[in-house]
Amino acid sequence: MSRIPESFIQDLLTRTDIVDVIGARLDLKRAGKEYKARSPFTNEKSPSFFVSPTKQMYFCFSSGKTGNALGFLMEYDRLSFVEAVEELAKRAGVEVPREGSDHAPRLVLDGPLDALAAAERIYRGHLRTHPAAIEYLKKRGVSGDTAKLFGIGYAPEAWDTLARQFPQPEHALTAGLLKQKDDESGAARAGARIYDVFRHRIMFPIRDTRGRVIGFGGRTLGDDPAKYLNSPETPLFHKGRNLFGLYEAKQSTKAALPYLLVVEGYMDVVMLAQHGIHNAVATLGTATTREHLALLFKSTARAVFCFDGDRAGRSAASRALEQALPEVNEGRECRFMFLPEGHDPDTLVQEIGADAFRERIEAAITLTDFLIAELSKDLNLGTLDGRARMVGLARPHLQKLREGPLRTLLIDELARITRFSRGDFEAMLAGAATPERRPEPQAPTPARRQRAEQPGARPVKRALQLLMEKPDMALRVQHIDQLALVAQPGMPMLVAAIEFFQEHPHASSSLLYEQWRGTPQGDALQRISISDLERPDYSKTLNGLINAEQAEQEFADCLAELRMKALRARAEALAAQARMGAMSPAEMVEWEEITRQLSSRSLVE
Ligand code: UTP
Ligand code: MN
Repeated sequence: MSRIPESFIQDLLTRTDIVDVIGARLDLKRAGKEYKARSPFTNEKSPSFFVSPTKQMYFCFSSGKTGNALGFLMEYDRLSFVEAVEELAKRAGVEVPREGSDHAPRLVLDGPLDALAAAERIYRGHLRTHPAAIEYLKKRGVSGDTAKLFGIGYAPEAWDTLARQFPQPEHALTAGLLKQKDDESGAARAGARIYDVFRHRIMFPIRDTRGRVIGFGGRTLGDDPAKYLNSPETPLFHKGRNLFGLYEAKQSTKAALPYLLVVEGYMDVVMLAQHGIHNAVATLGTATTREHLALLFKSTARAVFCFDGDRAGRSAASRALEQALPEVNEGRECRFMFLPEGHDPDTLVQEIGADAFRERIEAAITLTDFLIAELSKDLNLGTLDGRARMVGLARPHLQKLREGPLRTLLIDELARITRFSRGDFEAMLAGAATPERRPEPQAPTPARRQRAEQPGARPVKRALQLLMEKPDMALRVQHIDQLALVAQPGMPMLVAAIEFFQEHPHASSSLLYEQWRGTPQGDALQRISISDLERPDYSKTLNGLINAEQAEQEFADCLAELRMKALRARAEALAAQARMGAMSPAEMVEWEEITRQLSSRSLVE
């Protein structure tokens, strides 16, 4: 590709009438010498967008944007400059001439946003030319139109797809698109290698509310243990503050959004939109935050949270409930819906269709009902004790709610089901905190005992518990391949967890729960973390640990013990082979190395 001559662009603009270009996209009304419309860039109700036929410019007073026909196409159709020129040329029925050399285009960038916009175009271009990526989307049922609507692209397997396009990588590094290889000490060296963050992934652009790409989510097409890789936190991109699909949802209608459906995954949003449910948004692999809620309520008065029907889904829902309590009021409603087990919105809408899916949305339960269901879950409301405990359980939740009709309504409802008078209920609420009782510790069932006593299970299980408390310990684990050889139950899970946290250095353990939700590993992880709570010393210390240093020591001890086991087993196997005279020279070397390691203390790092 080469440069488009300046004179051609000038000529093209003279041939173009901006009123035609914009009139084809917006409902323009004549107003004296000018045309006006409601701003396509903001939600402003009054017409604050003007097109001047004499100046051949547009002016948007509510967003502050202004420009010519090319600028409008770039903003509104989200085209690159060259694409916008091509679009106008097509309208004018002329060819775009090229001049100059056939050097690769040097992208001149003003900032990280430009790097991200360029990356979106580049990834989109690669989707067209990589059959494997197209095939994958087809297999998942994504249509070409849907892919276009979201700007879905493909990051090829190479390490330098973007790196070679950005001769000055500064902005792409800031935007989290490129990474600089660190040297051993962890410090980046000047001139060190720069490579692409996203490789062999289907790319979902994440936009801010103005439609600008601020980050990406990438789904692996290979066997990468990180199914989705999200852009790292950057000055532009904060997972807890952005929602995937919000811009597209707002673009889908001129009217106010009656509600927004909050789902978990990129594919959920995309597939719902393809079925005509355009108002779904996804949190980006994190639990719902207060900032998410504030953002939702800027665009709608009702948020419907959609969760899996299993235990993990319910606990994610109750975490969302906690965040929602301080945010809701008479004008802002939250509802909760649960999907049948084994489904996510993506698979469910494909199976039952949009109408049946909408019916489920309609049937979502209110925040009040969900809260009451959660509170009464383990209580026997038939006993005075149970009824009194309900008051104690409700107290912290009610404290989070703002004063107002909603809170009054909830108190009325709680008083009704606990069969206390409203006055009594409020007096009990205001009274001293009733001690919250923990459920009686269960006597170990034979199955439990067996699990706990499985030989070798302890260090694996303990290491996992510790890792979930302090995921950054994963970064110091070396020789994962050796660990992976340990034939212990749970070992593949420990290895996968370590790899996950190495891949996502700032992830909290809740991310791993999210990642494994609904899988046997996820269930096991929950069991293991719960059994941590059963440790007799748990309540005496913070999460069963005295301090971080102790956690690290214990974690290192567990890993060393496991590694020793693996080495001993391997040494025995090799020795047996030697006795049969079947040891190869390479195995001889391996055996010597292992014996050396076993006799040194270097394993305990
Ligand atoms: P899921 O694991 O439920 O995947 O993650 P999914 O959305 O159903 O993905 P498909 O259907 O297999 O493609 C739900 C969401 O959690 C985040 C992503 O936002 C994902 O869409 N996630 C998941 C991550 O950020 N990282 C991961 O490694 C996994
Ligand atoms: Mn899915």
